[in-house]
Amino acid sequence: MSPTHLIRSSFLHCLEDPAKTGNTAVDYIADGTCRVQAGRIVNFGDSQSITPKDGERILDYRGKLIVPGFVDTHIHYPQVDVIASYGTQLLDWLEKYTFPCESRFHDPEVAAETAAFFLDELLNNGTTTALVFGTSHTASVEAFFKEAAARKLRMIAGKVMMDRNAPTTLTDTVQSSYDDSKALIERWHGKDRLGYAVTPRFAPTSTREQLDAAGKLLNEYPDVHLHTHLSENLKECEWVSTLFPDSEDYLAVYEQSGLVRKRSVFAHSIHLSDREWKSLSDNKASISHCAMSNLFIGSGLFNYAKAVKENVRVGLGTDVGGGDSFSLLRACNETYKVQQLQNQSVSPASLLYLATLGGANALDLDEHIGNFAIGKEADMVVLDEQATPLLARKANTHSNWEERLFTLLMLGDDRAVFDTLILGESLKHKTAPEHWG
Ligand code: GUN
Ligand code: ZN
Repeated sequence: MSPTHLIRSSFLHCLEDPAKTGNTAVDYIADGTCRVQAGRIVNFGDSQSITPKDGERILDYRGKLIVPGFVDTHIHYPQVDVIASYGTQLLDWLEKYTFPCESRFHDPEVAAETAAFFLDELLNNGTTTALVFGTSHTASVEAFFKEAAARKLRMIAGKVMMDRNAPTTLTDTVQSSYDDSKALIERWHGKDRLGYAVTPRFAPTSTREQLDAAGKLLNEYPDVHLHTHLSENLKECEWVSTLFPDSEDYLAVYEQSGLVRKRSVFAHSIHLSDREWKSLSDNKASISHCAMSNLFIGSGLFNYAKAVKENVRVGLGTDVGGGDSFSLLRACNETYKVQQLQNQSVSPASLLYLATLGGANALDLDEHIGNFAIGKEADMVVLDEQATPLLARKANTHSNWEERLFTLLMLGDDRAVFDTLILGESLKHKTAPEHWG
């Protein structure tokens, strides 16, 4: 039997979706203890009922607030250096900044160095799982999975499939994209905590034949993910309708190749028809809402109330480098504001859900991660409500978890992440207090 250890702190997590059941979906334990064995939660409750056994190690975070590790449902690791690029909207942004940057990732050294930086930055921000775009080069995905495996992370990634409307340094072919994706699935999917996502970039950069090849891969490997962009920008939507005149709308382009199903994640999904909403719901597909990117590249306002009404699964994405931060706390802030602009106020509980269990659910990983249920993997974020003078000042006025949470979500960023725990172990990004019980 592998040894157990304890984590003591205040804990806050979601048991279900607060948009459906309200605040009873949230469990707050002011003084709680979590027992971890072999990376999984084996016991969780009040510190009065869970006490240390002889010699049991304790990670003592009293005074802090632990929430489940954040889940980023849409991000591009090769776009670290695209962050904060000035003055364009989607299609020009791709040509001017993104494609030139991604062209460097045929080089394994560039890929390895960037993947390492990227993963450390995710962890600094409390993000423990992400659905990640590589580039069209297999070297980019090899490097990413190697770095993720070395850190014992639960990550999903894939090679971009893109056979037209991009520089030749980035295009593949129907056959090579199929072969390369298949080889990567065989090599990495299901290894440790890693998973593969078939990743056609978006409809404009794939021929019908390539989208069909993506569909073939999903048929051959039903438990891999599908990861792409959908209806982000109005010019993009117009372009799709001229490229695929026989499809009744944007989502239909993907449906016709068998790409819309559970474990399919569509980033953005801003400009959708009622038919598209219904199809996403009926097919149990998911949306990654990327508020920071949608504001930064001026794409539009996502309709979260409609997603709730239509019962479509939603997670949050930072969409770095379209998004300008790795922080899911910042993503919650911008998600809140985008809904305020549409006269909707997303509750603090729902924001926490979107960043944790909702993201896990959108990726169909909620049996492994997303809250502190017994048996789940012990990936956690330790938040510090005293991290900045402003946070501390505001936190001191609070009387309940809801107010405390909302302040952290609105004012927090990587400075509020005191530590990140992977499989129950501290990364000691900041000094973790530790003692033996
Ligand atoms: N659509 C196609 N490619 C991209 C990308 O790299 N970023 C975003 N935000 N949208 C896209
Ligand atoms: Zn994106």
